[in-house]
Amino acid sequence: MGDDTLNTEPVLHIANLHKEYYNPTTLVLSDLSFDLYHEDFLCILGPSGCGKSTLIRCIAGFEKYQGVIQIKGKDVEGPGTDRIMVFQDFNQLFPWKTVLNNLTYPLKLNGMTDKNERREKAEEYLDKVNLLEYKDYYPHQLSGGMKQRVAIARAMALGSEIVLMDEPFAALDAMSRNQMQDELIRIKEKEKMTVLFITHNIQEAISCGNRIMVMGKNGSIIENMKNPIEKPVTPASAGYGELWKHLNQLLRDNK
Ligand SMILES: Nc1ncnc2c1ncn2[C@@H]1O[C@H](COP(=O)(O)OP(=O)(O)OP(=O)(O)O)[C@@H](O)[C@H]1O
Ligand SMILES: [Mg+2]
Repeated sequence: MGDDTLNTEPVLHIANLHKEYYNPTTLVLSDLSFDLYHEDFLCILGPSGCGKSTLIRCIAGFEKYQGVIQIKGKDVEGPGTDRIMVFQDFNQLFPWKTVLNNLTYPLKLNGMTDKNERREKAEEYLDKVNLLEYKDYYPHQLSGGMKQRVAIARAMALGSEIVLMDEPFAALDAMSRNQMQDELIRIKEKEKMTVLFITHNIQEAISCGNRIMVMGKNGSIIENMKNPIEKPVTPASAGYGELWKHLNQLLRDNK
């Protein structure tokens, strides 16, 4: 998993990324470089305002940038179905469409012309997130965690190379959040997904990531490490306390 020697071509290659906003002029990312490999689950931690969302928006193709962002060797020049974003906001589904149609519609836009094929594919992925029995519900009839699972199923059904998640569980209560973390880890392992995941939560980064990155001011990378703790991670796992302290210290030192 994420073995650099087996998967020599990165799924995501970022080199000398530079991003400035002009209104007002703000330098957010300067000279940022890192690679992500197939089946990596990279968790990014960093203080508020350090540029995490800006980074993920650049990768998603929502922002202009200078430098290199490539998905499997191809330059990112705008949004594309090789990357899909799951947001913190629960309202990322089409509210007027059923759960099933929230999956079939993007498949249609993506060029899948056969209606039955679209339905089968949508049902297959709803089943993977244990939501098949809710396929005829509308988003407002679901809990926050269920909506996030629909968004994850949609990302998987589209067969994206990489799933981008910007604090997807931040608005969930603690118990739902733990459940969603377990669920995401399970789906990710089973489907061999590559995930880039932003969080404010050290526990979440240690539990989910096989890599952990800490960003500091101006998008500098302060830490980019392999997570040494084997899954399933619990606070009782060997090395958990030390790693938590190390990451916490880095975040404190780089506020
Ligand atoms: N559209 C914009 N125009 C101008 N400045 C912006 C814009 N979007 C973000 N910024 C600025 O860029 C910086 C980084 O913002 P960003 O949202 O990437 O931070 P973040 O690390 O995701 O923070 P948080 O943890 O609070 O979500 C901030 O100083 C912010 O004010
Ligand atoms: Mg953000």
